[in-house]
Amino acid sequence: METKFYEIKDPSTRVKEIAEVGAILRKGGLAAIPTETVYGLAANAFDGEAVGKIFAAKGRPQDNPLIVHIADFDEVYGIAREVPDEMKKLAEKYWPGPLTVILPKKDTIPHEVSAGLDTVAIRMPSHPTAAAIIRAAGVPLAAPSANISGFPSPTSVQHVADDMTGRIDAIVDGGDCEFGIESTVITLASSVPRLLRPGAVTVEQLKEVLGEVEVDEAVLNPLAKDAVAASPGMKYKHYSPRAQVYIVRGDKYEYAQYLKDHKGEADYALLFEGEEELTELPSVTFGREDEPLTQTHRLFDALRELDEAGAKTVYARSPSTEGVGLGVCNRLYRAAAFRFLTDKKGKILGISGASGAGKSTVCELLAGMGAVIVDADKIAREVTAKGSPVLTELAEIFGADILTEAGELDRRKLAAKAFANKENNEKLISVTHPAIIRTCENRARAAADEGKNAVIDAPLLFTSGLDKLCDLTVRVTADRETRLSRILSRDGITEEEALKRFGAQTEEMKLAENADAEIRNGANESTESLKRQIEEILSGK
Ligand code: TXA
Ligand code: MG
Repeated sequence: METKFYEIKDPSTRVKEIAEVGAILRKGGLAAIPTETVYGLAANAFDGEAVGKIFAAKGRPQDNPLIVHIADFDEVYGIAREVPDEMKKLAEKYWPGPLTVILPKKDTIPHEVSAGLDTVAIRMPSHPTAAAIIRAAGVPLAAPSANISGFPSPTSVQHVADDMTGRIDAIVDGGDCEFGIESTVITLASSVPRLLRPGAVTVEQLKEVLGEVEVDEAVLNPLAKDAVAASPGMKYKHYSPRAQVYIVRGDKYEYAQYLKDHKGEADYALLFEGEEELTELPSVTFGREDEPLTQTHRLFDALRELDEAGAKTVYARSPSTEGVGLGVCNRLYRAAAFRFLTDKKGKILGISGASGAGKSTVCELLAGMGAVIVDADKIAREVTAKGSPVLTELAEIFGADILTEAGELDRRKLAAKAFANKENNEKLISVTHPAIIRTCENRARAAADEGKNAVIDAPLLFTSGLDKLCDLTVRVTADRETRLSRILSRDGITEEEALKRFGAQTEEMKLAENADAEIRNGANESTESLKRQIEEILSGK
């Protein structure tokens, strides 16, 4: 197939070319087009046959759905079955731009686009050339990244030409992509909005609009073997260059030391700009350590450069996972197939604190500093999942009416019975705690072995004995008035219920007084001050 090349950096001066590319797409052809994130390989989203050709050109697995690109908000109504207010609010703030939103789909969208799912991913790109081409085509465009499946997404027209020449009808040169990593993907089709892929629109920015946002496990972790991917794209080996990439944990000095001690094992270093003197190895850089948007801009290009240079083994440094850094880590860890290197073991921290003291805030900050959070409440839900041995035993003790019709645990009913008296409470503990403790221990030790700090976040850290696993225990404190006002506004419970909750924690709070360290988190404590306190504790001061 002959591929036509167009240069359209400013669509207002290229009216004829825009119309030509629009016509190619409307008639069922394929065109690679620039966007502000990465280049996309577009086809008419309403034409199942045209969309089918995208999968063939990319060698993409059929069960991985595509994003539908629009130029005007009203097009959403022709694509999505339900358009919640949250969608409108997100669009007002972040569209056009690097954000994709998943909604329940209409039948207008063929199964080739949604890969058989009942939902559809929608994005309004801000690149003027992309918007002009969508309008010229007169239809929304389904477009994955314009690379051969499994290779880094293309961020320049040269990358696209390398992968797609001869395979598609047209390639449009719109210059280098501004962001350089793919859009943020969030689904509004779940009960709580869930981040499936991090990008230039950050979790913090999404929370400003949506309040609560869950971050999918697969964002920073390899998917468990038998897990179902919320986003099918997560299960494939992704963004991988031919070279074997490894991430060396630690700051730049630990990184340099590791390279010195393991001389000869790597042939290239992947570094931040200005750090070339850290090692004698030849290096490729990907942006500045303190500017994640320069990292996104460079990362995929840097990975392709390493391949062109013939690198076999590459040792990389990981950026922070905060803000846009989460998107960079998501791509870099996948490029490295989650291979981490370290000579050092992580610490296991245990965090306790009264309800409303702000343990979660402290844990979120620790997670931003690279720690793995082992959330005992979440694990308690996992070990009592439908069909689990623990749930079966609870039903034997407390009666089958603690189960819903679907066989799941009805937490309210269990709580009503288990907290009715001391004896029942002890029964509950004797069944659930051993399973929770075992799982917490396994996860924390696995993280520490990989060189990461692990944080056990448990409301009953000391009472349950989990503190004995920890290298360091920390209690988060705030005055009673602050705690009370936090839980009243957060949990929507009465003052009486809140006070009852405090009462249930008396024992834990007494034990927590023996914690190794304290983090003060009163009403006037700033994020900076919390971070300072955490850093002091981690550095052992
Ligand atoms: O920045 C971008 O989003 C680029 C440009 C071209 O717009 N496109 C892009 O598309 O990255 P692609 O196909 O490489 O990635 C789309 C991701 C995949 O991980 C896919 O599994 C997920 O979005 N996805 C699409 N539809 C979905 C759906 N209905 N439910 C869950 N995940 C979905
Ligand atoms: Mg892709």
